[in-house]
Amino acid sequence: MTTPLLQSEIPGFPCRRGKVRDVYDLGDRLVIVATDRISAFDWVLPTGIPDKGRILTQLSLFWFDFLKVPHHLLGTDVGAMAPPFAAQAKTLQGRSMLVKKAAVVPFECVVRGYLAGSGWKEYRKQSTVCGIPLPAGLQECQQLPKAIFTPSTKAETGHDENISFEQMSAATEPKLANELRDRSLDVYQRASLYAESRGIILADTKFEWGQLPDGSLILIDEVLTPDSSRFWPKDSYQPGKNPPSFDKQFVRDWLETTTWDKNSSPPALPGDVVEKTRAKYVEAFEKLTGKKFI
Ligand SMILES: Nc1ncnc2c1ncn2[C@@H]1O[C@H](COP(=O)(O)OP(=O)(O)O)[C@@H](O)[C@H]1O
Ligand SMILES: [Mg+2]
Repeated sequence: MTTPLLQSEIPGFPCRRGKVRDVYDLGDRLVIVATDRISAFDWVLPTGIPDKGRILTQLSLFWFDFLKVPHHLLGTDVGAMAPPFAAQAKTLQGRSMLVKKAAVVPFECVVRGYLAGSGWKEYRKQSTVCGIPLPAGLQECQQLPKAIFTPSTKAETGHDENISFEQMSAATEPKLANELRDRSLDVYQRASLYAESRGIILADTKFEWGQLPDGSLILIDEVLTPDSSRFWPKDSYQPGKNPPSFDKQFVRDWLETTTWDKNSSPPALPGDVVEKTRAKYVEAFEKLTGKKFI
């Protein structure tokens, strides 16, 4: 296993560090470097997951190619990027994308096909998910009669807040809101059909869209990765039971066994939790793409 990359350092360009990605501003383009950082409960953990950034990047690349929707990707060859990047090609290759810089649409475009997580909690209370009424009698993790679009705001800090489609339409233009909903649902539908054929249920996911100067919408950020989605193994899926997922569940479960209060710096992860988590990310990649992760 390689040493995890917790932070990239590229001189000469303004850098914004998100929870997972270091984003370098090249003017009309960006270089997005996915590090091996992992976050849980809105905190970045002090321990990285080796290869996680490469896995997330390779999976996003797979989906960009598969989906054939307009997207932000321009290239992945670090050797052909500006010299300060090329000089660190060994560290950056495989985890970096040169992309078109877009005006980020200030909503998380969430699509849910199954009743899980916060959706299940709300449904149990009032038979709705993000205000959308659903039939009575659904079980936890059951497939919804039809996938639903449940946008949320993009909070600069802290939690994103769910909003109704009507609130989103009022906050932007109705035409844009309609397009975001229709395109997000279309991408979810096509991706989830494919994922199911590969033995993975795509329970829900979050897309980010951006606008180019001419107003056209492109898919940006990462796409359909374990960090932005809830993946379940199809073979052990059973409505009424919360399936294991291909993501940081090990990390969350382990953190819950510690005395960490979620309001202060989180503890370092033990080696076996790191290894199991890495294995889950690799498994998601290999199942979905049919390729070996190297
Ligand atoms: N093509 C793009 N144009 C502008 N911003 C982008 C583009 N693609 C991704 N981003 C932004 O880059 C950041 C990626 O870093 P990430 O670690 O995912 O951040 P966060 O902690 O906000 O999730 C996000 O803020 C995302 O909105
Ligand atoms: Mg992100």
